[in-house]
Amino acid sequence: MFSSLKEQPADKILQLMQLFKEDPRDTKIDLGVGVYKNAEGVTPVMRAVKAAEKRIWEEQTTKSYVGLPGDPEFGDAMVSLVLGDSVDRGQVAAAATPGGTGAVRQAFELIRMANPDARVFVSNPTWPNHVSILKYLGMPMVEYRYFDNETGGVDFDGMMADLEGVKKGDIVLLHGCCHNPTGANLNITEWQAVVDLLNRTGAIPMIDIAYQGFGDGLEEDAAATRLVASSVPETLIAASCSKNFGVYRERTGILMAVSQDAGLNKLTQGSLNYLNRQNYSFPPDHGARVVSTILHDPQLRADWAAELEDVRLSMLGLREQLAGELQRLSGSDRFAFLAQHRGMFSRLGTSPEMVERLRAEHAIYMVGDSRMNIAGLNKTTVPILAKAIIDVGI
Ligand code: LMR
Repeated sequence: MFSSLKEQPADKILQLMQLFKEDPRDTKIDLGVGVYKNAEGVTPVMRAVKAAEKRIWEEQTTKSYVGLPGDPEFGDAMVSLVLGDSVDRGQVAAAATPGGTGAVRQAFELIRMANPDARVFVSNPTWPNHVSILKYLGMPMVEYRYFDNETGGVDFDGMMADLEGVKKGDIVLLHGCCHNPTGANLNITEWQAVVDLLNRTGAIPMIDIAYQGFGDGLEEDAAATRLVASSVPETLIAASCSKNFGVYRERTGILMAVSQDAGLNKLTQGSLNYLNRQNYSFPPDHGARVVSTILHDPQLRADWAAELEDVRLSMLGLREQLAGELQRLSGSDRFAFLAQHRGMFSRLGTSPEMVERLRAEHAIYMVGDSRMNIAGLNKTTVPILAKAIIDVGI
C-alpha cells in the first residue's frame, strides 16, 4: 500500500526553514517563516504566558476532557478580543481549533458541508497553505488580484473588478489585518466598499486574522473584522493565537461563525462541534487555557498587551529603518512602501531569481515570492539587508 503513495509537494516556507538550518554561514539572516524574533534572534515566551502557565500548573487538578468546542471561557474571551461589542455573543458560534491553520481547515470543511458548490475567492497572493488546503479538499478556488508590484500597495481596483465575479453563496477569503504574504492592507473606506459588494452579491466573507496586534494595535487591527461581521448576514472568522500570544507550538486558534440570525446559532454550533469530533475530537487545551487565563485577568492582560505593543513597535521601527536605508542607498523613494506595510511581512516585489541571489550571495533567506519576515531583522542586520538588495540590483 505505502508504495502507491505519491511524493507530496514540499511546503515552500517549511522547506526554507530547513535550508536555513543547514546553511553553515554564520552571517546568515532568516527572513523566512512567520515567527517573531527579538533583537537577539530569540522567540521568547511572553511574560504573561509564563505567569499563566505557572498558575495553571499550580491550580489545575485534572486533565480530563473539556468539550468539543473547547473551554467556553476561551471561546468567550476570544470572541470578545476579536469582535469586541460589534455583535452579540448570542450571534456567534465558536470552536477552539489546533492553531489558526486548524480554524482555516474547519472553516473550509464547514463551507463544503453547507454548500459544496461554493467557490472560494482567494487573494493573489495569499498564504500558500490556504491554496494548498483548498486543493487538498478538492474545493473550487478562484483568485482575485490583490498586490500591485509597482506601488507595493493593494491593487484595489483590480481586486474589486475580480470580486464582481462572485455569485451568491461564494466565499471571499480576506485577511483581517497584516496581509500575509504582502503586508499591504485595505483602508477602512476600502473595507466598506468590500462590505457593500458582499451585501450586493450575497457572497460570504471568511476572515483569517492571525496577526491581531502586530499592525496598528489590538483594537485597530480588529476594526475591519468587526465592520464586516456587523454588516453582512454571515461571516466566518479563523483566528490564531500563535503569533500575538507567541504560543506557536501549543496550536491555539478558534473558528467563529457569526450570523445576524441568532436563531441559526444552535445549528452552526452543532456543526462546528461535529467537525471537531470528526477531525480530532477535542481541541488542544493548554494554549487555549493560557490565553483565556491571560484575557480574564486584568493584570496579566495588561502586561500581555504591553509586551505585544513593544513587539509591534519594534517591527514598525525596523520597517522605518529599512525604508530609510534603502532610500539613502537607492536615492529614490521606491521602497517607501515598506514603511507603509503592516504586520510581520512585506513583499519586496522582486523575482525569484533575485531572491535566490540574495540567498546564494548574501545568505539572506526570504520566501521565493520575495516575502520577508521583518521580525527576522534587527538594527544591525537592516543595513546589511538594504545593501544586499541594492547590490543584487533590485
Ligand atoms: C507563515 O506564514 O510563515 C506562518 O503562518 C507559519 C506557517 O505555518 O506557514
